[in-house]
Amino acid sequence: MMEQDILQPKQVSAGKAHEEFRNYESSSRQEIVERHYRLMRTNQTLAYVQRMHEKYNACEHDEMTIREAFRKLESYIDSSDPDSDSPNLEHMMQTAERIRADGHPDWFQLTGLLHDMGKICFLWGNKEDGQEGTADGDQWALGGDTWAVGCRIPDEVVFPEFNQLNPDMKDPKLSSALGIYETGCGLDNVLFAYGHDEYMYRMLKANNTSLPDEALAMIRYHSCYPWHQGGAYEALMTPRDHEMKKWVLLFNQYDLYTKSDAKPDVEALWPYYQSLIDKYLPGKLRW
Ligand SMILES: [Fe+2]
Ligand SMILES: [Fe+2]
Repeated sequence: MMEQDILQPKQVSAGKAHEEFRNYESSSRQEIVERHYRLMRTNQTLAYVQRMHEKYNACEHDEMTIREAFRKLESYIDSSDPDSDSPNLEHMMQTAERIRADGHPDWFQLTGLLHDMGKICFLWGNKEDGQEGTADGDQWALGGDTWAVGCRIPDEVVFPEFNQLNPDMKDPKLSSALGIYETGCGLDNVLFAYGHDEYMYRMLKANNTSLPDEALAMIRYHSCYPWHQGGAYEALMTPRDHEMKKWVLLFNQYDLYTKSDAKPDVEALWPYYQSLIDKYLPGKLRW
């Protein structure tokens, strides 16, 4: 496929209408979702994010294969998501299967399978850090829409009324439009609210994956809705970031609109995905 064709999203159909997804006003899980975002907005400061990078970037917590890590993720359910209450492996396989069905390259399929794996850091987290080790615990540093820290939180986030709860928004520098950044510095040099996206991006890099930059961008930025949907952070972007954004937007269709698909047969499908893992992320990995 030519790149232009690849980047042309196909209609990713689903069991419910597109406008029924990402309902942050009246879903059946509204109370849980609202509490999650209040805590997330209150606690995810620049200093907190820097502390999490120190904790995780060296990937010294465990050594596991991808398969072993998936087994550990089995009990985890995302408390911030109004659209899904199924296990994460099922969601990730649904995403991968739809990417595969549309004829996208193998690295893109594998990205679908891996994109939410960073929630694995609940294994090493605690309540204070918003990474509680129980399925219904505080998860404000595991899941949920992210934003850039170190500069003003834009109104394009969900629940913008919670922005004022963030202590950084009382700091003149950290609450200014550019904050600690320079125009055109590139998103590579920007810090984001910490969660499964950032963890998995850093983990893949630490393990020297051969997945392409497009895959790494999809993983790192897929929860940054104020950026890929809201159009925020234009001033920080490079031309390369604009290229990557097209891929993140394409990925996002598959992440979101496959959540009501039929349950995949994980065991039957596994051998195919193991062959992709063997190609791009073989053997024991550092977590
Ligand atoms: Fe995610
Ligand atoms: Fe996802």
